[in-house]
Amino acid sequence: MSKFIINGGKTLNGKIAVSGAKNSALKIIPAALLSTELITIKNLPEIEDVERSFEVLRDLGAKINHQGNEATIDTAGLNNTELNAKMADKFRGSIMFVGPMLARFKEVKFPHPGGCVIGAGGRPIDLFLEGYRAFGAEVEEVSGKYYNIKAKNLHGANYFFPLVSVTATESLMMTASIIPDKTVLKNCAMEPEITALAEYLNTQGANIQGAGTPTMTIEGQEKISAGTFTVIPDRIETGSFVIMAAAANANLEITDCNPEHIMTLLQILKKIGVDFTFGEDWIKVTSGNRPLQAHGIRTHEYPGFATDLQSPYVVLMTQAQGTALIHETIYDRRLIWTDMLSQMGANITMCDPHRIVTQGPTKLYGKRLMSPDLRAGIALVIAALIAEGRTEIDNIYQIDRGYAKLEERLGAIGADIERVE
Ligand code: EPZ
Repeated sequence: MSKFIINGGKTLNGKIAVSGAKNSALKIIPAALLSTELITIKNLPEIEDVERSFEVLRDLGAKINHQGNEATIDTAGLNNTELNAKMADKFRGSIMFVGPMLARFKEVKFPHPGGCVIGAGGRPIDLFLEGYRAFGAEVEEVSGKYYNIKAKNLHGANYFFPLVSVTATESLMMTASIIPDKTVLKNCAMEPEITALAEYLNTQGANIQGAGTPTMTIEGQEKISAGTFTVIPDRIETGSFVIMAAAANANLEITDCNPEHIMTLLQILKKIGVDFTFGEDWIKVTSGNRPLQAHGIRTHEYPGFATDLQSPYVVLMTQAQGTALIHETIYDRRLIWTDMLSQMGANITMCDPHRIVTQGPTKLYGKRLMSPDLRAGIALVIAALIAEGRTEIDNIYQIDRGYAKLEERLGAIGADIERVE
């Protein structure tokens, strides 16, 4: 298992470019199943989860040419409707293949998806299954190991999400796009990755109205074509780097990003005293007076404070003056990682599984740590960069799932970070 060795306290400055969004790439790759024509994807992040997605598609019979951050996918010759359990078990994104497979082949067999251990009961998929039933499919769970979904014919659905779910919204939107009937989805997620996917599908002949709002109306088509999709900048990587610069009091320019997608974070950083300016595709953080003023947050579906930025933000609060209540409303276990931050010297009180209070500023000291999930992983990297002494972070596969070439990019702005196999 590889690990990062980080010697903290170095001055960071320079430029860092943001990769394409993991949570956009993991949806456009399965979307290749919606058409039998060749799709080209540009600005792909070079991360593990993208490799895992291509592995699953190849196993289904797709022909993929993947060079760096570009790929073409040909699914015309697809000959398998069963997701490979070993491959699909490695990441949450594997669930994204199910909807398009069902819409195209009227049947699909798949295991419960893998991924981070942050949700209750292993990342439930009840909303997906309810949605597929609403389209007229029969869902069978076989001995708690895998699911069989079959449909004689699929029809449009009127489905109201009892809970806002990003991937469930994307899955049902993709499924509906090639069921030649009318579908209305209500209480949808509104993330930018959903809007980007809908815009692409509409240029290929789909008819999806209302993406980015709570209600989507989809006039499904017999077939749609395929073209070129450019993955949007990763807003979570952008936010992680902005928070890193603020925590390290660095002069850092973050490029190839879209500041509009992290306005909630930027508003809060301004409130707590971080100096930054931003333009259309860049954010410049400049070092300034310290300490910052602590400010509480409540994570919320987009456009609220992103749950994926909660972990890095907690590290920033350990360096801010005063107390901050951090309320994680989306996931049940996404604050457990803060125990490791306390071991580094942070003053954190866990009020209940969804709330912690941070008290700062406190000095952090290097420790031997394990990355539980990718966003806690990047938070531990940020903590290690500002801590005194040496930190070891194990299980960095979790970090590689979402942050490409991290040690190279952080090393280039002055960090003392090394990957050890
Ligand atoms: C997506 O996960 C992202 N992953 C997550 O990013 C992100 O944290 C999350 O959205 C919230 O923004 C991808 O896009 C691949 P949800 P998703 O369904 O769709 C519950 C990262 O770090 N739920 O919006 O799985 C669920 O347990 C990852 O990049 C059900 O109960 O999240 C959670 O409590 C981590 N039943 C809540 O909904 C379901 O069928 C919201 O989760 C589905 C979800």
